[in-house]
Amino acid sequence: MLIRRIPSWALPESAATPEHVAMNRRRFMAAGAGLAAGAFAAPGAAQAGLFDIFKSKTPAAPQPPDPSVGLYPAKRNDAYRLDRDMTPESVNLGYNNFYEFGTGKGDPAENAQALRIRPWTLKIGGMVETPREVGIDDLLKALPLEERLYRHRCVEAWSMALPWTGMPMKDFVAWAKPLGSARYVVMKTFLDTEVAPYQASPLYEWPYTEGLTIEEATNELAFLATGAYGKPLARQMGAPIRLAAPWKYGFKSVKSIVSIDFVEKRPRTLWEAAGPREYGFWANVNPEVSHPRWSQAQERILGTNDRRPTLLYNGYAEQVAGLYSGLKGEKLFM
Ligand code: MTE
Repeated sequence: MLIRRIPSWALPESAATPEHVAMNRRRFMAAGAGLAAGAFAAPGAAQAGLFDIFKSKTPAAPQPPDPSVGLYPAKRNDAYRLDRDMTPESVNLGYNNFYEFGTGKGDPAENAQALRIRPWTLKIGGMVETPREVGIDDLLKALPLEERLYRHRCVEAWSMALPWTGMPMKDFVAWAKPLGSARYVVMKTFLDTEVAPYQASPLYEWPYTEGLTIEEATNELAFLATGAYGKPLARQMGAPIRLAAPWKYGFKSVKSIVSIDFVEKRPRTLWEAAGPREYGFWANVNPEVSHPRWSQAQERILGTNDRRPTLLYNGYAEQVAGLYSGLKGEKLFM
């Protein structure tokens, strides 16, 4: 694995995030012809800054109240405890990665409010006994919810700790009834450039796509979150349903999921496609394996001035290390 060990673990967020984007500069330049031809242009683009053309043009219309609000808070499963304080909700709501709504950490809080989360249909397909479509509220009735306290570690070396509410993914998989031959679970975000104009950006292969092996998806930790902080998920956090896979870097935890497919072949994920030398399929947290441009040895806990040593599998080795014992040849930590 081509890993450069860089001692500057203290890389500030402001440096890391633009580099995420910079990584794709060549691809962006390649798409320049398309931009010049107006393929991605929006009214006023000529006067606007380069990325302003991807800003939501639709002001958030008033939306109906979330019908699932009465299901929260759900009973906490005390098996999942934290070794640190919970991140205040206000911090979480204002600091997000949700590239469909912009690349700034504060962009999703504003722009994601345009996302309509009812009706919301989840398509379940691929290698299953019966492909089906289920409305989010029917899914919420079909599977019991619980609350879990999880750590959350981004590849950019910041972390949070929060109370998710949702369903263990292994319950969902059992309910979806995949065929025995299915090897991977592929999850995709919605695709709608009207509400998420940044999805017209040529920097990424939209829709946002992520995947887990069946063994990972049926591990006790994999969680489909529909709420956080005792309420339905906020839009910027991935309403109405997202993944929480706390032993992996946060980019695996795909938001606002509209389809879950069971397949035989490992999927190509958005980040792998965008930067294959920096982001892989497995993305398990490991302090010893640096990102090619910064160290992963420490994490910065948002909402505090603390930094802590990163833990192998983000502190969840006991639950997940066994999943990888037969996979020594794989790039498990990028
Ligand atoms: N899902 C979608 N659809 N789009 C995204 O840009 N960003 C990922 C992940 N899921 C992302 C996504 C990244 S890089 C991280 S770190 C987490 O969401 C951030 O989740 P949070 O904003 O709730 O902390």
